[in-house]
Amino acid sequence: MSAPSVLERIQALDAYAPGLSIAEIRQRHGLDQVIKLASNENPLGASPLAQEAIRRHAGLAFRYPQGGNPRLTEALARLHDVAPERMVVGNGSDEIIDLLIRMLAAPGEHSLVCCLPCFSIYPIQARVAGVELRRCALREDFSMDFDGLAALADASTRLVFVTTPDNPSGYCPPRADVARLARLLAEKAPEALLVVDEAYMDFAEDESATSLLADGPLPENVAVLRTFSKSWGLAGLRLGYGIVPSSLADGFWRCRLPFSVNVLAEEAA
Ligand SMILES: Cc1ncc(COP(=O)(O)O)c(C=O)c1O
Repeated sequence: MSAPSVLERIQALDAYAPGLSIAEIRQRHGLDQVIKLASNENPLGASPLAQEAIRRHAGLAFRYPQGGNPRLTEALARLHDVAPERMVVGNGSDEIIDLLIRMLAAPGEHSLVCCLPCFSIYPIQARVAGVELRRCALREDFSMDFDGLAALADASTRLVFVTTPDNPSGYCPPRADVARLARLLAEKAPEALLVVDEAYMDFAEDESATSLLADGPLPENVAVLRTFSKSWGLAGLRLGYGIVPSSLADGFWRCRLPFSVNVLAEEAA
């Protein structure tokens, strides 16, 4: 008798390489003082208000969160002035990225387009899902080639990922360029969702001029992702959110694990 074998495409994967924790670096290199710059955590730490909310609600840890986190999704929908039916929350935006790929793209059938380099979770989860990966190199000055990205998309393309401001380059494309990419894709790849990952938007020089969320209703084929891990300093609680077309939000709640956003993350947020 032998153990069942893991799918070949999973065996071929390079796992996500997380930044080492301070304790791991201390132990590995025998250092006393470590200043961690990996992982883009917030050096100011979690807000005292969020810490107080976590302490106040610690006694709730024995409860399951309310299914679908409605209090949180409604508060976030108010914050961004969007319909609550479009708001989804996940165990970090990582979970939302993974679920979008698995909801939209079928293995061996569909393709996903992203930049090279880019936030590594997009290509890793695409490979996990068995989805063809198409990548467009950043230009020498680190700007994104949106015409190149659009040229890689076709009828098989179900997702196109753009990070703004970008990780790892820091490039922050003008909003008009991102909106133009959405229009190009609507023509070239009518089944594709443009996922605009705004994890670092609070650090942009002028958010009102760069975020798609500051420009009225989102185009039909666009989803925007945000996270509590960066500017809000709550990476360890794992909470991200997305504003997605309402038909996709419906599918999202069908396939998200029911309690993946925990009660303390919800209270802190
Ligand atoms: C561009 C980008 N998107 C998403 C994430 C993941 O954020 P979360 O902690 O919400 O899963 C990161 C984390 O480094 C990131 O750099």
